Amino acid sequence: MTQDELKQAVARAAIDYVVDGEIIGVGTGSTANFFIDELGKIKDRIKGAVASSEATAARLRGHGIEVLDLNDVEAISVYVDGADEIDASGAMIKGGGAALTREKIVASVSGKFVCIADGSKLVQTLGKFPLPVEVIPMAANAVSRKLTRLGGQPRLRTKAGGTDAFVTDNGGYILDVAGLSITDPVALETDINQIVGVIAVGLFAQRGANVCLLGTGDGVRTMTF
Ligand code: 5RP
Repeated sequence: MTQDELKQAVARAAIDYVVDGEIIGVGTGSTANFFIDELGKIKDRIKGAVASSEATAARLRGHGIEVLDLNDVEAISVYVDGADEIDASGAMIKGGGAALTREKIVASVSGKFVCIADGSKLVQTLGKFPLPVEVIPMAANAVSRKLTRLGGQPRLRTKAGGTDAFVTDNGGYILDVAGLSITDPVALETDINQIVGVIAVGLFAQRGANVCLLGTGDGVRTMTF
């Protein structure tokens, strides 16, 4: 199976977690996009969705799914999203698609985080994928120095093919931090959150996944945490 077929398989499996008549939280990225396409097929069963990015909102609307403002929603039962890496405890690195802050916000009000990922995302130790950290633009260099002191090698994310800084939906910059071997994801999440100028860190350990639907050559494996 190709990686896209594995992503499609987990996206299809995630439909079983959708609660009829409710609002669902929807993540960002290529795997989440497959999920949105599946959600489009059952859109009459849900009340609407809260999106974790402008791109996701546009795709949901393209399928005729109502996108609600989180300020108008009290709670969400289920949040479905991909990951860049996930470990055996359900801790994740996210933000490859630059939506980490809104993803974290929507996940924080959701009862269940269902991670959908192809098998390549399961790792023993988080950190091979450079850890995305969203920062206030004026603080980029100051935060960068602090992340270096924590043992990482931060690099400002730039627009594809250029040297201009990539700007997130929130007007932030992203520092991609390479060289970390994250043996204590909860502690590192706390440490990075405490750096002034950080908007959010793409470590989802304090609020990790509750379920991971992992696409493998042998089918969809369900991991619960
Ligand atoms: C976006 C994310 C994505 O969930 C993550 O990058 C995985 O993306 P994909 O499903 O395309 O592999 O965190 O900010």
